[in-house]
Amino acid sequence: MSQQVQGVIAPGKNEPVRIETIVIPDPGPGEAVVKIQACGVCHTDLHYKQGGINDEFPFLLGHEASGVVESVGEGVTDVEPGDFVILNWRAVCGQCRACLRGRPWYCFDTHNAKQKMTLLDGTELSPALGIGAFAEKTLVAAGQCTKVDPEVSPAVAGLLGCGVMAGIGAAINTGQVGRGDSVAVIGCGGVGDAAIAGARLAGAAKIIAVDIDDRKLETAKTMGATHTVNSRSTDPVEAIRSLTGGNGADVVIEAVGRPETYKQAFYARDLAGTVVLVGVPTPEMQLELPLIDVFGRGGSLKSSWYGDCLPSRDFPMLVDLHQQGRIDLGAFVTETIGLGDVEQAFARMHDGDVLRSVVVL
Ligand SMILES: NC(=O)c1ccc[n+]([C@@H]2O[C@H](COP(=O)([O-])OP(=O)(O)OC[C@H]3O[C@@H](n4cnc5c(N)ncnc54)[C@H](O)[C@@H]3O)[C@@H](O)[C@H]2O)c1
Ligand SMILES: [Zn+2]
Ligand SMILES: [Zn+2]
Repeated sequence: MSQQVQGVIAPGKNEPVRIETIVIPDPGPGEAVVKIQACGVCHTDLHYKQGGINDEFPFLLGHEASGVVESVGEGVTDVEPGDFVILNWRAVCGQCRACLRGRPWYCFDTHNAKQKMTLLDGTELSPALGIGAFAEKTLVAAGQCTKVDPEVSPAVAGLLGCGVMAGIGAAINTGQVGRGDSVAVIGCGGVGDAAIAGARLAGAAKIIAVDIDDRKLETAKTMGATHTVNSRSTDPVEAIRSLTGGNGADVVIEAVGRPETYKQAFYARDLAGTVVLVGVPTPEMQLELPLIDVFGRGGSLKSSWYGDCLPSRDFPMLVDLHQQGRIDLGAFVTETIGLGDVEQAFARMHDGDVLRSVVVL
């Protein structure tokens, strides 16, 4: 028997989001229905609404979520009803060429639910990142559910499902930040601040936060930034070099997703240093760099998809570190809101007023 719940959909390009009744099928083989407890508002949800990801409207938005498994389909053994889980968008297949080469964090064939959630009139919904969790319940592949310690706050846990994991992983997994490294992070929203927190956790000696908004730089300090640079008034490349003995940082993380900030990252790193691009550009953006500089400066230029995370490995570990007080994931939750407040939360994100608004059910 299918069931009906309330969920937030983006009906068409740049149209305001609205609450609709959603039909959730019973879980089929390999699927699970999850009762959502919390779901953060990520910049990627706004990209969906603006048509920046694809045009498969209507979208069921929301993808940074935690909740309790309500029911599972045939053959599901990893989770059972009652389990507290974080939803992930990397349910690895174990069989694609990346998985077979022992690099499952790149999995090219991740699992989602096979059945469709719909509106009452049968219109099929596209769940954001295969999740769709601005809803009372959602249908996912069971592998998208990662069990974690149920003692953690659902709002905090949910954030690990996307932006916070993307940022921490950009520093720790992709950038391989190590003890004593100098790190600069350009763009200090939820993702950039998580990269700062990740760099601190990894033992970075110097962590330079760069943003165009002083309020963001203040928060970045509480996350672990040792120095801040407002790039509206100060050349960030010069500033990062002068803070690192004239050399540049070992690892520079770009968490904006624009060509000009990527160039800053490229030139603000030390010779043989690493640039990590975690910000997501739009399709029309182009980058031009002298090839001699790409060669002459050496090092590595990497992109970070979802912080190169493995949910089964990284989510429980980060929840434990949070519970032990070694990383403060609670600091990312600026406000908790209801399902009806998502449109307003997009405006507040756009204006830079929040790190994360989290829908709590
Ligand atoms: N790679 C991934 O897997 C992944 C996952 C989640 C989000 N993202 C992307 O990460 C990016 C950041 O997401 P967020 O949720 O933190 O967004 P956000 O809007 O909360 O933060 C963006 C920050 O960048 C700052 N900024 C804007 N222009 C700037 C400039 N020219 N120079 C310096 N700072 C500037 C803003 O002031 C803000 O603090 C987005 O592009 C998002 O789509 C990537
Ligand atoms: Zn795979
Ligand atoms: Zn996201």
